[in-house]
Amino acid sequence: MATSIRSPRDPNTLSNYNDWICTHITARFDILFDQKKLVGSVIHKLKSATDGDSREIILDSNHVAIGGVTIDGKPSNWELLPPLEPYGSALKIQLEQGVKLNETIDVEISVQTTEKCTALQWLTPAQTSNKKHPYMFSQCQAIHARSIFPCQDTPDIKSTIDFNISSSLPVIASGLPVRDALGVQSAEGKSLYQFHQRVPIPSYLFALASGDISEAAIGPRSVVATSPDKLQECQWELEADTEKFIGAIEKIVYPYAWGEYNVLILPPSFPYGGMENPIFTFATPSIISKDRENIDVIAHELAHSWSGNLVTNASWEHFWLNEGWTTYLERRILAAVHGEAYRHFSAIIGWKALTDSVEHFGHDHEFTKLITDLKGKDPDDAFSSIPYEKGFNFLFHLETLVGKQKFDQFIPHYFTVFKGKSLDSYEFKSTLLDFFRSDAEASELLDSLDWDTWFYAPGLPPKPQFDTSLVDVVYELSHKWKSLSDTSFKPQPSDIEGLSANQIVVFLEQILLLERPLAPESSKLMGEIYGLAKSENIEVANLYFQVGLKAGDESVVGPTTELLGRIGRMKFVRPLFRSLQKVNRPVAVETFEKYKDFYHPICRAMVEKDLFGKKDI
Ligand code: BES
Ligand code: ZN
Repeated sequence: MATSIRSPRDPNTLSNYNDWICTHITARFDILFDQKKLVGSVIHKLKSATDGDSREIILDSNHVAIGGVTIDGKPSNWELLPPLEPYGSALKIQLEQGVKLNETIDVEISVQTTEKCTALQWLTPAQTSNKKHPYMFSQCQAIHARSIFPCQDTPDIKSTIDFNISSSLPVIASGLPVRDALGVQSAEGKSLYQFHQRVPIPSYLFALASGDISEAAIGPRSVVATSPDKLQECQWELEADTEKFIGAIEKIVYPYAWGEYNVLILPPSFPYGGMENPIFTFATPSIISKDRENIDVIAHELAHSWSGNLVTNASWEHFWLNEGWTTYLERRILAAVHGEAYRHFSAIIGWKALTDSVEHFGHDHEFTKLITDLKGKDPDDAFSSIPYEKGFNFLFHLETLVGKQKFDQFIPHYFTVFKGKSLDSYEFKSTLLDFFRSDAEASELLDSLDWDTWFYAPGLPPKPQFDTSLVDVVYELSHKWKSLSDTSFKPQPSDIEGLSANQIVVFLEQILLLERPLAPESSKLMGEIYGLAKSENIEVANLYFQVGLKAGDESVVGPTTELLGRIGRMKFVRPLFRSLQKVNRPVAVETFEKYKDFYHPICRAMVEKDLFGKKDI
């Protein structure tokens, strides 16, 4: 009997999704805080993509406990295949007979998560903000959904979802609440929370969180949800800009498709800045800096509602289509709200992140390419600023090449053609070329573009001319610090008066770029005079500690380890551990041992690799 006829274009799934297409998922889960697990079942509605040729269904699964499988209500034979790291032990389900083309079957799997689940973090009351209740949340991107339930864990397949979640605490999911059913009482003092996702989504956007969560409005179609004791400050941070951002991007692309746009501010161990779970962006509490200076993360996650969530990369090898496009749209939103100079300011910060990542991997490394080869690899290992910033620079280059006005017309076209679909870079290219086919001038420019270099060359792309008006002042200040000892420059608190937190970030990055690190006393002086170590803005504190560590200023070691115990966002945690271990490896190792249970499993695994693991990652 023929199985997998064509090989799938996503190398990071073991599922035979070319033979079967999941169109709908019904998930029923009980959240068991005391046992730190989800118990329940999922029903996959699978459509046959062959004419009865496939007698087996293979789903991704990793570290889940399976109780049984039925097909259309009848018990079915199943087995877990030997583990193939990092992709897990696929679930193979045997069919007694083939299914005709386009006919569907319901495959129900009873399943429990285990303590090895990489997608979920379970927090004890002591690990939460008001210390009263436990908390749990998921993070499925890139390939962690398979550790919650067996599924076609590929961004190339999209399904609608029904969530039926029973919990003793409020629940949030990546669907719209079924209002009548919200909090229906179920057994043992628990309530049933139901959500529906009517727009088909890939598995990596499946999301759940439950804990002591309350909500407050931040706009006409938006709420922020968080621990009740943090609600007001979160509301203040987001209420001024969220609707402005939505209005801005709706003008650039087209109207928001998902109904509500909400933000969940998670406990500090959330490993990312933000995650674009539909209906509810999940975000780190480190964006609540009391100065509204870090909400570009919200512009970014919101932009994913178009790039990524409606129009999706077909595999993680084409991740730039998600993140490069999103970074591009994020900066268009920022330009609409704060002016064009701010877009360039953000792009300059991004360019620095890009050069750091290229430096980190090495200029010839596979992961510095726009299209990466991820066969046999873990997409988490390839994660860096490169798809974001090389992707942004590619789109910015295209915008400059054909002209902004013309490119502006292409944006809604692209997001309409691929709405609800997944695509790869080659489809992007042909759609762009086709769109401009009737425009001789643009066509000539695009035809002569060196596509292969953009797609496949490792290392940095050409650096564009950015508008430096917002960085010139901080470049000047960093020059003064460079020659601190041999000039009459006397640092004063007034040096940074009027600078935004993000300008201070750029200043500190310039200091880090200096060939000769600051002397330990100079670094210390800088921290004291500018009040950097005590900044409420964690981006500022983080970079100041990097400056101090590089300078060998022992006085920042304590505050650095303190920060590492208070935030689990990988953007800070990984580089801080790397720098700390250069200055004092025993302290780095000891700090990791102390806080490893606080970190999310994904973060823990990455820091473990950084500190103890293979060098090339
Ligand atoms: N989708 C990403 C987060 C992600 C990527 C999670 C890959 C898992 C695997 C999210 O949209 C993101 O890019 N977050 C950034 C925000 C920043 C670029 C504004 C982050 O976490 O720092
Ligand atoms: Zn993103």
